[in-house]
Amino acid sequence: MTKRKILITSALPYANGPTHLGHMLEYIQTDIWSRFQKLRGHETYYVCADDAHGTPIMLNAQKQGISPEEMVKNVSIERQRDFADFNIEFDNYHSTHSEENRDLSALIYKRLDEKGHIKKRTISQLFDPEKSIFLPDRFVTGTCPTCDAPDQNGDSCDACGATYSPTELKNPRSVMSGATPVLKDSEHFFFDLPAFESMLKEWLHSGSLQAEMANKLEEWFADGLQQWDISRDAPYFGFEIPGAPGKYFYVWLDAPIGYMASFKNLCDKKGMDFDAFWGEDSQAELYHFIGKDIIYFHSLFWPAMLDGANFRKPTNVFAHGFVTVNGAKMSKSKGTFIKARTYLEHLDPEFLRYYFAAKLNGGITDLDLNLEDFAQRVNSDLVGKVVNIASRCAGFISKKFDGKMSDTVLEPELIAQFQTAADSIALHYEQREYSRAIREIMALADKANQFIDAQAPWVLIKDEQTQAQAHDVCSAGLNMFKILMTYLKPVLPGMAANVEQFLNTELTWESAQTVLKGHAINKFKALMQRVDMDKVNLMLEESKESLEASNKPALDPNSPLAKEPIGEEIEFNDFAKVDLRVAKIAKAEHVEGAEKLLKLTLDLGGETRQVFAGIKSAYAPEDIEGKLTVMVANLKPRKMRFGMSEGMVLAAGPGGKEIYILNPDEGSEPGMRVM
Ligand code: MSP
Ligand code: ZN
Repeated sequence: MTKRKILITSALPYANGPTHLGHMLEYIQTDIWSRFQKLRGHETYYVCADDAHGTPIMLNAQKQGISPEEMVKNVSIERQRDFADFNIEFDNYHSTHSEENRDLSALIYKRLDEKGHIKKRTISQLFDPEKSIFLPDRFVTGTCPTCDAPDQNGDSCDACGATYSPTELKNPRSVMSGATPVLKDSEHFFFDLPAFESMLKEWLHSGSLQAEMANKLEEWFADGLQQWDISRDAPYFGFEIPGAPGKYFYVWLDAPIGYMASFKNLCDKKGMDFDAFWGEDSQAELYHFIGKDIIYFHSLFWPAMLDGANFRKPTNVFAHGFVTVNGAKMSKSKGTFIKARTYLEHLDPEFLRYYFAAKLNGGITDLDLNLEDFAQRVNSDLVGKVVNIASRCAGFISKKFDGKMSDTVLEPELIAQFQTAADSIALHYEQREYSRAIREIMALADKANQFIDAQAPWVLIKDEQTQAQAHDVCSAGLNMFKILMTYLKPVLPGMAANVEQFLNTELTWESAQTVLKGHAINKFKALMQRVDMDKVNLMLEESKESLEASNKPALDPNSPLAKEPIGEEIEFNDFAKVDLRVAKIAKAEHVEGAEKLLKLTLDLGGETRQVFAGIKSAYAPEDIEGKLTVMVANLKPRKMRFGMSEGMVLAAGPGGKEIYILNPDEGSEPGMRVM
C-alpha cells in the first residue's frame, strides 16, 4: 500500500459559547477518520482552530466586560478541554486570531486584488445611530413586510417564511440599543466570485463531491453567482484590511484561511514543509469536514479564493447532517441542548463516539440521538457483545494457564474470516460509511460469541481431559477479540488503549493479520460500564437547569428583582390553595403600643375579619378607610400580642414609607375571588 499524505480539518468552532453534542458529531466523525488513516499508516494531520472573529464575538465580550482576545482565550481553554476529554486527537489546535492567519489572509487578499478579483463599491446599510455601528442582519428586528408579524428577524420571518433584506422591515429596531436604525453609505470590498464560475464547475465535476453537495452547487450556478461582500466597517473584531484603514476582513474571509494558519503553525513547530500540502502542485490530499449549514462557504468561496491566490484546492469537502435529540431539534427548554461538558460529567465519551459511529453514513441526513436507543445500543453491542468475548475468555487464561495463550490456533477458518473482513471494513471507513463498518464488526462479534457458546469453555475447564481444549478456545476467543478491537480502534481509542495493555500488544491495522500464539497477557480489568439511564436522565435535568440560568438577561442592579430575587418555584396546586378575596377596609385604627401595626376591620361582603397589618409607616388610618384591597382569606387565624389576626392584606414595596396596599379596580366588590 502506498503511503498517502493527508491533511484533515473540521470546521473551526466559533469562540462564542460552549461546545454541545451537535458540534461533537463533527469532531467525532473527523477524529474517527483521522485515526483510521493513521492506523493504516498514512502520513496524516488533523488540524483545527478557534474561529475568533466577528460581530457576535465582539458584542459578547463587551457584555462580559472583557476584551474579545480575553474572551476567545477563555472559550478556547474550555473548548480544548472538551475535545481532549472526548478523545479528539488534533495534531494542532490554533486560532484565527493569530499572526499566521493575519499574514496568510493578507497574502491571499493581495494576490486576489492584484489579479483584479477585488471590486469596490458603495452600499447603503442599516446603522445604529446610538451605538455607531453598522447592523448585521440578525441585529435588526421589526415587523414583517409581508405578513405584518411583529418582532421578526432582519432576514426572514418566522411567521410566514418570507425572506427579505433588513431595510424592508417595517418599524425596524436595533437589537443592540432599541434605536431606530438609519441608512448609511459605506464603501465595501467584494470578492468577484462570478469570475470563477467555470473553474468551480470543473472542480464540481472532477472530484467525487457528495451527490447532495453537487446538486446544491448546480442550483447556485443556475441562480447565478454573486459577488461576495468581504469587508466590514469598524468597530469590528478581526483583521484590518491592508491599505484600507477602518475596513476589516469579514469573519468568513479569514475563517477558512485559519485551516492553513493552523497547519502553518504546526509546520513551524515541527519543521515540516507547508507547500507540500498547500502549494499549487501539492500531491497531498486535503479534506474539510463540515456541517451542511456551511457548504456554501466551503464549496464556492473557499475553492475560488484558493484558486485565485495560487494555492491548491481541497481534494474533497465532506458535509454531515445535524444532530437531533429524541427526534427533535436540540431544545434548551426540553434539556436536549446538551453541552459537551454536561455529557462528560455523567457519561463515558466512548459511548457517544460509538453511537455516532453506529449511525453515521457518508451523506448529509440528520442524525438522531435517541437516548433510549443510545443506552440500549451501547449496552447490547459494546458491553453485551464485544467486551463479553474478552470477559468470558480472559479469566481462565489468567487463572488456569498462567496468563499465557495457547500455542495452537483453533478454528483457523473462522479467524481468517475475521481477518479478511479488514478490506471491506477499511473501505467503509474510507467512505465515511461508519455504520456499515460497525454492522460488519458486530456481525463478527456475534460469530465469536456463538463460537464460545458452542464450545462452552466453562464446562471444558472442569475436566482434566478437556482443559487443553478450554485453553485453545479461550485463546481463539481472545484472538477474535483482538481483531475486533483493532477495527474499532478509531472509534474507541480509550478502550483500545486499555485492550492493548491487557493483551500486551499494540493494535495496528496489519497486526490483525497475525494470530497471537503462546503470548503472555496481563490481568483483565473491566473495559466498559453499562450506560445507566438514570445518569442519562440526570444529564437531561442538568441541561435544563444550566441553560435556564445562563439564558436570563443580566439584571439591572437597581431593579426590585435584583434586590429581592424571585422565590422558589411552587406547584400550581400550592398556589390554588391560596384563597385571595377583595376586601373593603371598613375601619382602620391605631394599636396601642404597636409601632408598625394598624388594626383593620375588613368587610368581605358577608362577614368581617380583624387583621393586623404592618403598614403604619406608610398609611394613616384615615388614608385607607373605605378603600378596597386584596386579602388572603383562608389564612389560619394567628394569635398576636394585640389580639387575633384573621387573614392578611397584600401590599408591595421595600418598606418604610414605601408600602403600597394593593387596590383592585372600582367595579370589584368585597368578597370577590382574586385569581
Ligand atoms: N465558525 C464556523 C465555521 C468556520 S470554518 C472555516 C461555524 N462554527 S460553529 O461553531 O457554528 O459550528 C462548527 C461546526 O459544528 C459546523 O460545521 C457546524 O455545521 C457544526 N454544527 C453545529 N451545530 C450542529 C448540530 N446541531 N449538528 C451537527 N453539526 C453541527 O460554523
Ligand atoms: Zn411574515
